[in-house]
Parts: sequence; C-alpha cells; structure tokens
Amino acid sequence: MPDRRNDKMKLGAFFHPTGNHIAAWLHSGSQIDAGTNFEHYAALAQTAEAAKFDLMFLADAVATRNGRLNALKRWPQYMAYFDPMVLLSGIAARTSRLGLVATAATSYNEPYHVARRYASLDHLSHGRAGWNAVTSSNHSESRNFGREEHLSHREKYERALEFLEVVKGLWDSWEDDAFRRDRTTAEYFDPAKLHPLNHKGAHFSVAGPLNVARPPQGHPIIAQAGGSDDFIDMAGRHADLIFTAQFDLESAQALYGKLAAAVKKHGRPAGSLKVMPGLNAIVGRTEKEAQEKHEHLSSLIHPDVGREVLSNDLGNVDLSGVPLDAPIPEEIVEEQLRFWLRFMKEATGKENPTLRETYRHYGSARGQRPLVGTASQIADEMERWFQGRGADGFLIHPATLPDGLEDICGLLIPELQNRGLFRTEYEGETLRENLGLPRPKNRYA
Ligand SMILES: Cc1cc2nc3c(=O)[nH]c(=O)nc-3n(C[C@H](O)[C@H](O)[C@H](O)COP(=O)(O)O)c2cc1C
Repeated sequence: MPDRRNDKMKLGAFFHPTGNHIAAWLHSGSQIDAGTNFEHYAALAQTAEAAKFDLMFLADAVATRNGRLNALKRWPQYMAYFDPMVLLSGIAARTSRLGLVATAATSYNEPYHVARRYASLDHLSHGRAGWNAVTSSNHSESRNFGREEHLSHREKYERALEFLEVVKGLWDSWEDDAFRRDRTTAEYFDPAKLHPLNHKGAHFSVAGPLNVARPPQGHPIIAQAGGSDDFIDMAGRHADLIFTAQFDLESAQALYGKLAAAVKKHGRPAGSLKVMPGLNAIVGRTEKEAQEKHEHLSSLIHPDVGREVLSNDLGNVDLSGVPLDAPIPEEIVEEQLRFWLRFMKEATGKENPTLRETYRHYGSARGQRPLVGTASQIADEMERWFQGRGADGFLIHPATLPDGLEDICGLLIPELQNRGLFRTEYEGETLRENLGLPRPKNRYA
C-alpha cells in the first residue's frame, strides 16, 4: 500500500443536461427542458460552488447524435443543448470560484478561435476557465465540416498535438505586463512585450498574435479525456487534468502510473497532472433508498433506447432481432468489441444476462463507474481509490439533474469533508490555485 496521502481530493461535476442516466429526462426529479434552460444550469453551478466543487464540466459535440429516430426521439441527451462556451460565459457572472470547463475538439476547430475563446472566458471569470482538448469521438461531426469520414486515430492525434502547441503559443502572445495603459506617455502597450507566433506546420499556419491579453491563469487549465497510448503521450506533454473512464482500482492505478511516466518523459515535474476518473454516484440516506432510485430509473428505459445505446457502443451492431429476454449473442459483435460486450454483461452481476438486464445496468453509467449506496459506502470507495493512487479526485456524473446533484452535495460531500478528504473552503481564487497547479510562465518573458 503506498504512503497515506495528506492532500485533498479534486472534484468535478459533469452536467449532462438532464443527468447522466439515459432515462433521466423521464424522472420527475429532472428538469425536462434542461438543454436550453439557462436558469437550470446557473442553479446547478451555484449548488456545486456552495459544495466547493473544483469545477463543472460540459462535454460537447458539434452535431446531434446520429442514429435511429425511433430511439433518439426518446433519448434527447445529445439533440438540443447550448454551445458550452456561450453558456459558461453566462454562468461566470453567477458564480465566483467554480472552475468552468468545456470541450472544444481539436478535429473541428481552428486553434486561433479556441485560444481566443478560452482566453476570453478566463478573463471574464477571473481565472476559472478550462479547455477539455479532445480529438472528438463523434463521427457525425465530420459531415458538418466538409468531410465524409472522421480522421483516423493517428491523424486526429497528430493534428491535436500541433493544435495544442499553437494554442499555448497564442496564449503567450502578450507578456503579463504588456498592457501599460499609460495616459501620461500615451502608450497603451509595450511593443517589446508583444510576440507574434509565426507558426507554420503540417496542419496550421498561424501568424498571431492573439487579440486578447494573456489570460489570468497564464494558460487556462487544459483537461483531456481518453485512454489510448497516443492519448497518454499527448496528456503527458500538455494536460493539467485528465478525465477518464475506469472500472476497477487496478486499471485505474495502471493508467495513473502510465500518465505519471508520460509526464516525466516530457520533462514536467511529478504532480503536474491531476487524474479524475468518472464516477456515476447514486446516493441515498439508506442503501435501500439508493438501490430503489437506481432501479426506478432503469425501469424507465424504453427498449428502443436500450437497444440503441448498446448498439452504439458495440460498433452499431443490429440488435433488432435479439429478443429482450434473451442474451446478446457474442458472435454478432465485431471481434475487437467483444471484450466490451463481456464487460457490459459482467457489470450486471448476473451469469448470462438478457438484453433487457444488460441495458438496464449499462444505461445508468455508460462506461463510467457506477456507485449506488449510502454516502459512507460511496466515500469508502472514493477513499480507497484516492489513497491507492488510482485517482487524484473524481469527475462525478449525477444520474439526474438537479436532484441527483442535490443528493450528492447534501449527503456525500459532507461525508468526504468529515473524513478530511475534501475542502471546506476554496484555497484560492483561480481554478489553477484550487487545483494546486502552478501558473505557467510566459515562454518569452
Ligand atoms: C469523461 C469523458 C468526457 C469526454 N468528453 C468528450 C467530449 O466532450 N467530446 C468528445 O468528442 N469526446 C469526449 N470524450 C471521448 C474521449 O475524448 C476519447 O475520444 C475517448 O475516450 C477514446 O479515447 P482515445 O481517443 O484515447 O482512444 C470523453 C471521454 C471521457 C472519459
């Protein structure tokens, strides 16, 4: 067992509009029009801030989900929701300490736009912006950006690496004290502290400089999500924060170790990267209450939606011929995805689960780790992962919103605080300060 750590957990709250559960919108405790309801998100952010969460996170795709309409009409999760950066700009005005993190995929953006948007959010939130720099896992995005097919895994990561270099270079366009704004000398800025980028590479040609002053955090926080070797190498070079899906402590520890090695390989100090596995927590005052909540939610999943979710995550396999009360035959799934079907089945805890049992279990957390129980039971698991160095904290996905978040803030957070595992007050003003990460120096200063 590694030495007991004395630092505190870092916690993020992942806000899918109505919640992470695929039937969340059908639950009476969720906000039915959440995706385009600003007051809903503002209230969630304030609840998370009152509980001292490090950050809220909004995932994104620049496309609706592509699939069978008979299922999508009952599963609105990816069909209508705000552009996250526009939304976070509004939330910045309603909060003062909560970190504001959103996705912008490197495959479907230009680095100048991204550098400018996150620098702007960092200024208007006084240092609370974070960019989830993913390569995009959504094939439907390509058709909105002049391509029939998504880039290959390797091409996505090559473009992403250059993209990140350009964005960081643009954030250093101006030294921190470049803007003198001196009426006595009539000089607004010092030209010696302005640094155009003049980048020319395989994917981008960007002269710079950026038309926004250096962000308050120096560089907004860079989060990344994934698990492949390409991802680990990129994260070791650039990321401050990792979002990942891990099921058991052993695999979480293995990834944690690989990320630490990648950080070292790229010459960065140990601890430069905070790892936050996803956690789908359904918490109750008693174990029975938590289980009942979970079972009620699962009973709301329409069979068309259950089939669609499993089909999507099993390489679009056609499940229409599999009866609800029969198991999914392994041979209909492509060979390289059979491990995932096995995982889905094992996760139910049943010997040979039926299609219905499989989607009822999987639809709750969809690849994130599900924890259903009392605050004390869930906190035990979180502590085990934290002390076992499989995690520096967690990205918590409430199953339903707002009520799932309220349960987490009312029951689980006080339990973690009582154990001395989580803060009772913010340490700093910026997201970087609260995460305990240093402010990057300007490369030219
Ligand atoms: C917590 C979490 C959040 C993610 N958010 C997004 C997102 O907002 N947009 C997106 O296109 N992909 C998102 N992904 C997918 C990952 O970026 C990544 O493509 C996927 O996990 C496959 O990993 P790999 O690229 O290392 O193969 C997310 C993944 C995780 C675990």
